[in-house]
Amino acid sequence: MPSRGGWRTVMEKGYGGKTMADAAERVTLTEAEIAVHWREEEYYHPSPEFIGQAYLTDRSRYERFSLDHFPDCFKEYADLLDWYKYWDVTLDTSNPPFWRWFVGGRLNAAHNCVDRHLARHRNKTAFHFVPEPENEPIQHVTYQELYNRVNEFAALLRDFAGVRRGDRVTIHMPMVVELPIAMLACARLGAMHSVVFGGFSGKACADRMVDAESRVLVTMDGYYRNGEFLDHKAKADVAVREAAAQGLAVERVLVWQRYPGRYSSPTPLVEGRDFVVNEILPRFRGRRVDPEPMPAEDPLFLMYTSGSTGRPKGAQHSTGGYLAYVAGTSKYYLDIHPEDVYWCMADIGWITGHSYIVYGPLALGASSVLYEGQPAYPDPGRPWRIAEELGVNIFHTSPTAIRALRKAGPEEPKKYGHRFKLMTTVGEPIEPDVWRWYYHVVGKGQAAVVDTWWQTETGGFLCTTAPAIHPMKPGSAGPAVLGIHPVILDEEGHEVPAGSGKAGNICIRNPWPGMMQTIWRDPERFIQTYFAKYNRDPQSKDWRDWPYFAGDGAMQASDGYFRILGRIDDVINVAGHRLGTKEIENAALGVPEVAEAAVVAVRDEVKGIMPELYVALHPGHRESEDLKQRIVDRVAQEISPIAKPRRVVVVPDMPKTRSGKIMRRILAAISNGFEDVGDVTTLSNPEVVDEIRRLVGSLKS
Ligand code: WTA
Repeated sequence: MPSRGGWRTVMEKGYGGKTMADAAERVTLTEAEIAVHWREEEYYHPSPEFIGQAYLTDRSRYERFSLDHFPDCFKEYADLLDWYKYWDVTLDTSNPPFWRWFVGGRLNAAHNCVDRHLARHRNKTAFHFVPEPENEPIQHVTYQELYNRVNEFAALLRDFAGVRRGDRVTIHMPMVVELPIAMLACARLGAMHSVVFGGFSGKACADRMVDAESRVLVTMDGYYRNGEFLDHKAKADVAVREAAAQGLAVERVLVWQRYPGRYSSPTPLVEGRDFVVNEILPRFRGRRVDPEPMPAEDPLFLMYTSGSTGRPKGAQHSTGGYLAYVAGTSKYYLDIHPEDVYWCMADIGWITGHSYIVYGPLALGASSVLYEGQPAYPDPGRPWRIAEELGVNIFHTSPTAIRALRKAGPEEPKKYGHRFKLMTTVGEPIEPDVWRWYYHVVGKGQAAVVDTWWQTETGGFLCTTAPAIHPMKPGSAGPAVLGIHPVILDEEGHEVPAGSGKAGNICIRNPWPGMMQTIWRDPERFIQTYFAKYNRDPQSKDWRDWPYFAGDGAMQASDGYFRILGRIDDVINVAGHRLGTKEIENAALGVPEVAEAAVVAVRDEVKGIMPELYVALHPGHRESEDLKQRIVDRVAQEISPIAKPRRVVVVPDMPKTRSGKIMRRILAAISNGFEDVGDVTTLSNPEVVDEIRRLVGSLKS
């Protein structure tokens, strides 16, 4: 099998500390395994102009964040915030691995992101809202206006919808300025928000509402995507119906209008349950709500993410530790200064948007661009026009968006006068070739590039170069950020040294303030998923015995830079969106003809990784285009169009072990065009392998 390199040595030793036979039954061909093996790349250096203005230029700060100074070094991040009451204990480790940061401190996230900026930046733009239709004017929302609107909506949530401190409010909205307003209003009241990505289905929204027990849903009538006005309110009806079926009564659905004063959805309002926010808001005009002084350890929000079982897990993030961590990393790694204009193209419905559109940049009093639509709409010049018009100088996006923009308009950025000082890539490994286009063409060879590796669970960046200190190396995230101490471990828990050319499981040795507190209502799953693999003594009170297991394969080069290979579990990272293979398989199994379903990860030129779905049918049913379409539609409907499989392959039988387990590894090898599918001797039906290979070979991509 080509391109498995160092990772293979890990796989051959077995998986999960079990025997190879067991491993072969269990393990899908992971993203890490199909990652192409890159050669060592040359370094690129930031410009003297960039270094001259950067916040983080002093290497000795890394010393100050060394393990010798742990955990007190993080005081420096917490001091970026306003506290009602300073904390007594920086880090309480008495109940591993449930770390508690800044214990005894009190603060409010909305106060830190909005109120405290009024004195100096009242008339500064907080958000430039750019609607997708190019003929609609850009709205410039100042900090003063943001303050007014957050207060009024907080009053509405409290006095009209009965939201109290500690409640969970689900927000299912597109990329409009009312989304951060709703989040900050929750934070002001001390209620936790649970934002569900707007592109997710009503069913996916319901599952998350039920888990969080949210009685209130905040949504919008509709929005633009790719030139089309989508009816978003229809999803709220599905969500409430599904939630009811699962035993949760949603009491209030608060519907913002995309065009205030005009209800733009064909889906009717349900009397007594649905309320148009823009009609009720005038009652709260001018109202002010005192920010709730929250204990640092109280949760700020839940963010659901896919894990290796079907059920999404609610990553619970704290108020003090999280906010300190995203403020600190935004300052040093995004290098956001008061005069900068920052644009992160991610969706707020993902962790990147939470940390690096809303909380980090606003904590620093930044001006941010918030774009409603599809990056390449109506043409691939759109992002560069927006950047030029608004003077964006910090640009943050994902490899998928970069690949798509390059494919659609490789020369396009050259036509525009934008000038970036810093650019970010996040969410998936970036191919060196794609990186170079980003650097030379989008950044015009002038911008520093940071490749930031991190996760929903980690709150903020874990590895990236410090843009004015470390040279860039295409395809490598870089060294760890301040105060983070990673290690690569093999299956037995031995360290894989830097420069060994071997891959292993990347872990973080130490706790840090941005780390999630737990999985909502499932502390046992938190321990099992992130710590059990390498913790040798569950009774230990020493944080050194509890390395955080990230679930990614990685290698460390001799210069100390980490290269992330991808997921090693049953999670597929499609265009930077984390999807559980089980979720997709379950959706496919909802089609009555489907007897068995197996999802595998396949390399794709634009999206990086895509799901491909294999299905076997119940006896008496035959393959048809209509059936395949129904399967694809079902996945889109149950989860989201982003989860749609690239292809559906109907097979006569799945390759199975003697104990009846589907060998996804073999399917993945076939889908990725590998010559060698690995060992088939443990199969009960080895003859299907060639049959499936022929089938796939005869399909059009
Ligand atoms: C992957 C997104 C390579 C990784 C912030 C991780 C990356 C998963 C990078 C988390 C990067 C994220 N290079 N891979 N710079 N950043 N990943 O939770 O597999 O949506 O585990 O958080 O994305 O995805 P999540």
